[in-house]
Amino acid sequence: MPALNAKSLCDFIDASPTAYHAVDSAAAMLDAGGAVRLDERDAWTLEPGGIYFVVRDAASLVAFRLGHDAPSESGFALAGAHADAPGLRARLEKSVAARGLERVAVEVYGGPIHSTWLDRPLSLAGRVVVMANGRLEQRLVNFGRPVAVIPNLAIHFNREMNKGIEYPMNGALLPLVSAAGPAGTAAGPAAAGASWLLRAVGSEIGVEADAILSAELAFVDATPSLVFGYDSELLSAPRIDNLEGCHAILSAFAAAPARGHGQVVVLFDNEEVGSGTPRGADSSFLRDIVQRIVALTDGSGPEALHRALARSFSVSVDGAQGWHPSWADKFDEDYAPVLNGGPAIKANANVRYATDAVGEAMFKGFCLSAGVPCQRFRMRADLAPGTTIGPISAALLGVRTVDVGVPMLAMHSARETAGAYDHDYLIAALKAFYGAGPQPVPGT
Ligand code: CO
Repeated sequence: MPALNAKSLCDFIDASPTAYHAVDSAAAMLDAGGAVRLDERDAWTLEPGGIYFVVRDAASLVAFRLGHDAPSESGFALAGAHADAPGLRARLEKSVAARGLERVAVEVYGGPIHSTWLDRPLSLAGRVVVMANGRLEQRLVNFGRPVAVIPNLAIHFNREMNKGIEYPMNGALLPLVSAAGPAGTAAGPAAAGASWLLRAVGSEIGVEADAILSAELAFVDATPSLVFGYDSELLSAPRIDNLEGCHAILSAFAAAPARGHGQVVVLFDNEEVGSGTPRGADSSFLRDIVQRIVALTDGSGPEALHRALARSFSVSVDGAQGWHPSWADKFDEDYAPVLNGGPAIKANANVRYATDAVGEAMFKGFCLSAGVPCQRFRMRADLAPGTTIGPISAALLGVRTVDVGVPMLAMHSARETAGAYDHDYLIAALKAFYGAGPQPVPGT
């Protein structure tokens, strides 16, 4: 049987080239499910059983379904993921032109595998702040088509190339955006004077280049995501880390039945750069929203928030490093999850992942009740793993958290590979979690 949710995941990824677009895609899914959008600046009225969502600075989102019980009695089932991905950010004002060829300067965001960004058609997307009718306005832009490429050097100039090559971000990593030729055959976006990027973005969103006051723009893989393999069991896509997690949580949330406990989704920007921003996991965002929900729906007084948090449980979803048959010595085989073997519980003695024994046991229980397989990931004991939003968010809320994620290959490559069935498994496990809610464990 083909994987059920792989196609909708591909559509979600393709519609979400940046965290701004991922939050926009998430908002569309929530809208379709009847959720009501709230603004942090407004006074809120929350109805019992209602579904709501809040966006902070266009790139992070919290959604919640109120439970039948007071939060102080039943707590919250929270699931979170990051919506950003490592890659190349464009420098708005800086073009480098030589002999009719024009490139755009970039900075590296997070920790991408540089070489994977070469020789593939790239698109551009992000957010733009423009002056329109005397007022500042924020717009999302998504070219949605190839407009750039980072070409490699011909191997004849460097016969040692296959031994590994460095691509400096102020040199070989600059995307080529225009090849006008000596006669200026391809003129590029109109209105000379401003940088290529300003002109191109201006014409894309229908404003003059000089109306663009600032922007955050990323070069992104322009090739659509795809399900492949003889039995369509594999997934090839950019940003599987961690849009797979975002989409799994949103899908599980949409399908979960209302219960006594509240159900919460959180998508954070800026995980790939340490989460320390006003909309990252290391911010007040999630706690602010939980605090407001409790204040507005729980009449049991100032202690209600503390009681609600003490009764809550959180699942932090982020990609796991799947076992790679060509690099088997990099793994501890007993803790190396394989593609299509189910979601992996990630743990680390130094708490780079938030998982503790109780959290791990709870998540295993959710997988068991959903009838899906479950794996485990621990880095080889002499290597340090990465980290994720789990430990940060757990510490800020004081809520027990388990770190889980589907295994993938080539994490942080411009294009990653995952098992199509794992997405179904993760959705089923998260749905079981949203249904069952936080599980009280005597003695903890
Ligand atoms: Co990640």
